[in-house]
Amino acid sequence: TDPALIRNFCIIAHIDHGKSTLADRMLQLTGVVEDRQMRAQYLDRMDIERERGITIKSQAVRLPYTALDDVTYVLNLIDTPGHVDFSYEVSRSLAACEGAILLVDAAQGIEAQTLANLYMALEHDLAIIPVLNKIDLPAAQPEKYAAELAGIIGCEPSDVLKVSAKTGHGVEELLNEIVRQVPPPQGDADSPARALIFDSVYDTYRGVVTYVRVVDGRLDTRERIQMMSTRATHEMLEVGVISPEPTKVEGLGVGEVGYIITGVKDVRQSKVGDTITSAGRTASDMLPGYQDPKPMVFSGLYPIEGTDYPVLRDALEKLQLNDAALVFEPETSAALGFGFRCGFLGLLHLEITRARLEREFDLDLISTAPNVVYRVVMEDNTEHRVTNPSEFPEGKIAEVHEPVVKGTLLAPADYVGQIMELCQARRGSLQGMDYLSEDRVEMRYTLPLAEIVFDFFDQLKSRTKGYASLDYEPSGEQAADLVKVDILLQGETVDAFSAIVHRDKAYSYGVEMTKKLRELIPRQQFEVPVQAAIGSRVIARENIRAIRKDVLSKCYGGDISRKRKLLEKQKEGKKRMKMVGRVEVPQEAFISALSTD
Ligand code: GTP
Repeated sequence: TDPALIRNFCIIAHIDHGKSTLADRMLQLTGVVEDRQMRAQYLDRMDIERERGITIKSQAVRLPYTALDDVTYVLNLIDTPGHVDFSYEVSRSLAACEGAILLVDAAQGIEAQTLANLYMALEHDLAIIPVLNKIDLPAAQPEKYAAELAGIIGCEPSDVLKVSAKTGHGVEELLNEIVRQVPPPQGDADSPARALIFDSVYDTYRGVVTYVRVVDGRLDTRERIQMMSTRATHEMLEVGVISPEPTKVEGLGVGEVGYIITGVKDVRQSKVGDTITSAGRTASDMLPGYQDPKPMVFSGLYPIEGTDYPVLRDALEKLQLNDAALVFEPETSAALGFGFRCGFLGLLHLEITRARLEREFDLDLISTAPNVVYRVVMEDNTEHRVTNPSEFPEGKIAEVHEPVVKGTLLAPADYVGQIMELCQARRGSLQGMDYLSEDRVEMRYTLPLAEIVFDFFDQLKSRTKGYASLDYEPSGEQAADLVKVDILLQGETVDAFSAIVHRDKAYSYGVEMTKKLRELIPRQQFEVPVQAAIGSRVIARENIRAIRKDVLSKCYGGDISRKRKLLEKQKEGKKRMKMVGRVEVPQEAFISALSTD
């Protein structure tokens, strides 16, 4: 295709503002998907995406479109995820485009991720087309929000397009504006090939499918290619475009977007952000890449059935083929047995990974309370990177550093007080505050990551009746007064319950956990103290009183078969017991103590 006829664009939006629905309409209007084959959120292929209504992996689709000038253009739509955990996926999609549709719900207005995505698009020098969606809603306020949007982008309110992705109203006009406003790709057709990898997906049947955007030159089928970062070469088995099903083509030229298959089995061999060139005629410089996604939140994952451990390991390996951000290593816990310490981009990433493990691999799992990564500096200047609270070093600690984030909160002005209160309680510090319009405020905070990964979103939503939104990005680390709180049963530490918390919150954590365990752990034949301690200093204590339990006393003199049954039942139960020192703890107690937060 002549690059002059190509338009590469993406849709950026806050979660739920209608990106996938708009993409659906575009697929239909351009005839790529016939009406009778249409299903909602066509591009969200993973079951879990469709169920939760969110987009996780980016997808690229080619839309042939005959514009008002009667010329047929190739529009390449690169779909992007909206949730904050996956914002690194947004950035990689943007690098493959020349334009972005900034989609805003006409009943909600601008939200935190609208801004975050807009800034990212501006950094990539993209042409921005502002669009208000859902104008069919009775609650829509298109005039008000057009003015707000125009104020932020620096255009006229009349430049803001108004569409309904649901009814299709205004979508035709939007397609024409894409042709008019998004610049065609620039690239040198005669240079050695350079293509940017913006996504890499593992497919059981075909191996790794790599999505690329060709910047210079050409990539043809049957040619050998080279990954510029590793110099590894591969044979190309297939080149194609998605429209909307994979379709083979001879090759991809300047500005084109498509996929290649080389037979590699692991997405890490076809790394997102890498540059592909021809092995026969290599380019000299790589294209600017991306930062590698870094896991921010760690949690231990344990199979409830110990025998499932190998299944869990295989399952994690399989998921990793497709998820370069997922990391894991084996770990053992006295309380939970054999499992893995896993690193995630955020809580949603954790939740989705866990749900996929349970569903796709039929596993029952326990996950320990998620924690961030700490850097502990000792007085003798040695350092420890702690991803598991139970590995918090003993001895003379000079400083503990925790990751912090820059958070942007957007909300109606009425809620400023509630938000400040919440951020204060979470050790946030206010960096600045701006009125985006008369009644919408942007507040900027630095916050410890550990304070927002737990129930911050829920708290924020409930305190602002759902009107506030949050976006954040990593922003280095800070030293803080953090301590490890251990939970002890009869003097033995239960590793799964150790937590690193701020000194001010250590006491309430200790009280809460000891109470919970006292209720969950059945009485034993002896008294069991449940304690919370910082080092050797006990900060909270509960007692589980002794009981003399004799299952046989109930049916003394009764018939023998009933007696045997009871004994067997008790044996069954024992299998699910974990011993902590002399104390028998039913596995259920661990599970409920870890899950009811
Ligand atoms: P993520 O993929 O999670 O980022 O969400 P999204 O931005 O793709 O939003 P999605 O397309 O899933 O739409 C969110 C909700 O808004 C869905 O329930 C849609 O049916 C609804 N919706 C989208 N566009 C319109 C519209 O124009 N009018 C109305 N009334 N509802 C819409």
